[in-house]
Amino acid sequence: KRSAQGRGDLSGRRVVVSAGGTREPLDPVRYLGNRSSGKQGHALAAAAAARGAQVTLVTSAAADLPDVDVVTIETALQLRDAMHAAAADADVVVMAAAVADFRPATYAPSKIKKTHEVGPDGAEDDSAPTIALVRNPDILAELVESRGASPAPIIVGFAAETGDENGSVLDHGRAKLERKGCDVLVVNEVGEGKTFGADDNTVTVLRRGSAESVEVGPATKAAVSDAVWDVVVTLL
Ligand code: CTP
Ligand code: CA
Repeated sequence: KRSAQGRGDLSGRRVVVSAGGTREPLDPVRYLGNRSSGKQGHALAAAAAARGAQVTLVTSAAADLPDVDVVTIETALQLRDAMHAAAADADVVVMAAAVADFRPATYAPSKIKKTHEVGPDGAEDDSAPTIALVRNPDILAELVESRGASPAPIIVGFAAETGDENGSVLDHGRAKLERKGCDVLVVNEVGEGKTFGADDNTVTVLRRGSAESVEVGPATKAAVSDAVWDVVVTLL
């Protein structure tokens, strides 16, 4: 077994992992969200702790992991603040969170009603509202940018891809790795029958500037995590 779990090869290292999907509020009771379970990110945090790292997990999902500092977030903007704060003195940052690309442009401080009264005559408007969206910041790209020329932290991204007429899952993964400028990209094939929230995962681990790739799975999210850390350890 190649895994170095238990060997303590992350001992003394500070690791930050983001996990789960962000929730972007529309009003006090509603949000736009996604199906990310947070399981892969939580498994990464647990595996790093088992290998001796000091781990901060920034997550939108409930987490009770021994030896892991958990920071709970909801929105992409909260995740961004938490990641910048935690990344400042980290050796490794992993963006496993499913960050919403967009958020509602406005937040209604009271519950949006189905019917609103309009005009002095008390006429009612039953039309459906249009939700305007604005882009969220790209946290991974920001972390790469604020690292600048410094060698630390090592930055790991995740990408869920499907193949299409423009290229295979791997083609899209390599292009995203170059675009984002992170050191490692963990590419997940999604689509047909590859359900969210599953306990197993199949990924390809890519390193920037290397033609090699490491294929893992189908395997437990714990085993996938150890394979990712095996790659990261070679870069530390
Ligand atoms: N990510 C991020 N901030 C965002 C969007 C994504 O930090 N606003 C991170 C994710 O956590 C992941 C990586 O970027 O590690 C890739 O996310 P992905 O959604 O695959 O990439 P995008 O650049 O958003 O491209 P697209 O969704 O159009 O494929
Ligand atoms: Ca995205």
